[in-house]
Amino acid sequence: MEHFITTADFSADELDELIDRAGRMKRGEEAPTVAGKNLILLFFNPSLRTRTSFEFAMQQLGGNTVTLNTGGDTWKLEDREGVVMDGEAAEHITDAARVLGRYADAIGIRVFAAGESWEKDRKDPVLGAFVREAGVPVVNMESSLYHPNQALGDIMTVKEHFGRDIRGLPITITWANHPNPLPMAVANSILLISCRFGMDVRLVRPEGYDLDETVMDRAKELLKESKGSIRVTDNINEGFKGSRVVYAKSWGSIRFYGDKKREREHRKSLDGWIVDDEKMALTDGGVFMHCLPVRRNVVVTDSVIDGKSSIVYDEAENRLHAQKAVLCRLLGG
Ligand code: CP
Repeated sequence: MEHFITTADFSADELDELIDRAGRMKRGEEAPTVAGKNLILLFFNPSLRTRTSFEFAMQQLGGNTVTLNTGGDTWKLEDREGVVMDGEAAEHITDAARVLGRYADAIGIRVFAAGESWEKDRKDPVLGAFVREAGVPVVNMESSLYHPNQALGDIMTVKEHFGRDIRGLPITITWANHPNPLPMAVANSILLISCRFGMDVRLVRPEGYDLDETVMDRAKELLKESKGSIRVTDNINEGFKGSRVVYAKSWGSIRFYGDKKREREHRKSLDGWIVDDEKMALTDGGVFMHCLPVRRNVVVTDSVIDGKSSIVYDEAENRLHAQKAVLCRLLGG
């Protein structure tokens, strides 16, 4: 059985097959069906794009969707193993996964990092329980570590703009400031897929904002196969100069993990980390990308996101098409 947890589990050819198919569906050249198949979307965290794009994706493919928000639609779920369940949680995720797997042909899970212990969060325990227990394909709709559907839509968008072969194309993945420490999943995922496709990756972040070392190791393994390159720097000029794609994202520091107060204090010295016209002018006509939602005039200025270099809405749209290709692969459409 195949799951869609991270794009790193798929070869460049397999990802290209998904992207090509998504493109054909977008252009109306192909209209596959998964009629009669059932998809359950289980959200432990809020969403605007992921929920709507998955629901419409399944509807357009002729399948059925049930969406559940754990904040109100389900019983409160326990994710610790072996505990005496005499607290608030009425159901264990093991039982929820086994039951939902009896109804569904695939299950999408959104479960962000809890934000207290990186050692625990980096194991993606809830997602792992569904993979282990549900007995049907699991689609990661963003976990602690990965947001593969975002990355697939992102790279589809890059290919639409620059052509199918993006080997050697410079991409700047830049940290940006934000009032809150956010999950690392999007940054990890654009990094991994850029490396998988052999891009010239510049990871630009202030000191203390390194990504998880297992993700970095995986990225380097992918680069060996794809013959791409990576440079990690805190020098904004160096990271932006001559780039063709600027991908902005804020994420929390592993150093301050679980201590929001200390991290907020630290971030006061990082005000310059915003994508503005000055930084975009360093690029070689670079396009601006962000997964959204974005804090305007904190992460990126209005003039950049509303300017002609911005492709953020193509990116958001392509989530729909890319996810249709993923669902077809997993459900046999
Ligand atoms: N980019 C993204 O996943 O958006 P939502 O959090 O709104 O689903």
